[in-house]
Amino acid sequence: MNADLDFMRRALFLATRGSGRTSPNPLVGAVVVSPDGVVVGHGAHERAGEPHAEVHALNEAGPRARGGTLYCTLEPCSHTGRTGPCVVRIAEAGIARVVAAVQDPNPRVQGRGFASLRARGIAVDTGVGEEAAIRLNQPFFTFIREQRPFVILKAATSLDGRIAAAAGRRTPLTSAAADRRTHRLRATVDAIAVGAGTMRADDPLLTVRGVYRERPFVRVVFDRRLQTPASARIFSTLDQGPVIMMASAEAAADPRLAGPLQDAGAELVVVDPAGGVRAALAGLAARDITSLLVEGGAALHAAFWDAGLVDYLHVYVTPHALGAEGVPFAGGRPVPLAGLFDRRVEPCGPDVLIEGYVHRPH
Ligand SMILES: NC(=O)c1ccc[n+]([C@@H]2O[C@H](COP(=O)([O-])OP(=O)(O)OC[C@H]3O[C@@H](n4cnc5c(N)ncnc54)[C@H](OP(=O)(O)O)[C@@H]3O)[C@@H](O)[C@H]2O)c1
Repeated sequence: MNADLDFMRRALFLATRGSGRTSPNPLVGAVVVSPDGVVVGHGAHERAGEPHAEVHALNEAGPRARGGTLYCTLEPCSHTGRTGPCVVRIAEAGIARVVAAVQDPNPRVQGRGFASLRARGIAVDTGVGEEAAIRLNQPFFTFIREQRPFVILKAATSLDGRIAAAAGRRTPLTSAAADRRTHRLRATVDAIAVGAGTMRADDPLLTVRGVYRERPFVRVVFDRRLQTPASARIFSTLDQGPVIMMASAEAAADPRLAGPLQDAGAELVVVDPAGGVRAALAGLAARDITSLLVEGGAALHAAFWDAGLVDYLHVYVTPHALGAEGVPFAGGRPVPLAGLFDRRVEPCGPDVLIEGYVHRPH
């Protein structure tokens, strides 16, 4: 029914209110419609640990929910987590019908929410607005299904596909408009990563600037040999969030390498080099990191690409030419910017942002 889709669109819009704040939980929105077709309740899951969207919407609706329809962007939960099961609350409110966009892939829910509603005599329709709901929660879906963060590979390239003028040379490429856009993206993810080469060449702060973010921002440095100097500027920004260094067991056990970095505030995580970036991602998932922005450089991008662990690309093409000496994006891998799913092209000052999914979202 078209009316179902209209109400679901409202719920999808509401869900985005929690953007950047609900992790490791999904973004969820809900709308309650009374039997005579009036919207009487709105809700969003605003932060992990706070009430679910359905509860906010039902609270607002009060007795007007009785006999009505609840629209929710994700299957309502049937288990007790940090909050009680939503299905019980929905039944108590007297809801007659639930329309949900998509099933929750969390093994603790995964159809049990729908079954529990039906067992309570509530009609359930699913799949309304499903495509949008799937896209809304790609980090959560990837985290639950694959026990790893959703990986966004971000880069700025010259017109001739280079990310730096020469190996190890700091080469600012993007405009202020693109930089502001990058900070907006950083504000939405759980963590950001760079390689040891970028730490040495750029000495980046890796903070979110000019955009509101209320949670700590985890910074990850892929530096197996622990070559990052303890004087790196990132250690002056620990108030923004932890700095995790992915190190080999050998380097982590060497007090001359590990000691100064730990004194500077780094957390060392030992990764088995044989496990590559996949092993590092498993370690991040264990810390409830559901999304990771990999900002470079070329070798780290190549490692993620080769491992098949890039979910989304976010690339600025800038009006510069760097020539044959320049460092090729992703080590020259044939990254298919033209073949991305849901591809978006957006002007950012003189730069052009091209972004999209590497695989069809599911
Ligand atoms: N335009 C852009 O968007 C952009 C963004 C970032 C950087 N850059 C530029 O890129 C250049 C740096 O790139 P880069 O390729 O030299 O260095 P990089 O990719 O930043 O770092 C590479 C290093 O990361 C470490 N590493 C740890 N785990 C790894 C893994 N699984 N696979 C691969 N490497 C791993 C390796 O050192 P160990 O073996 O010691 O661990 C490797 O040498 C700089 O010039 C910088 O300015 C450009």
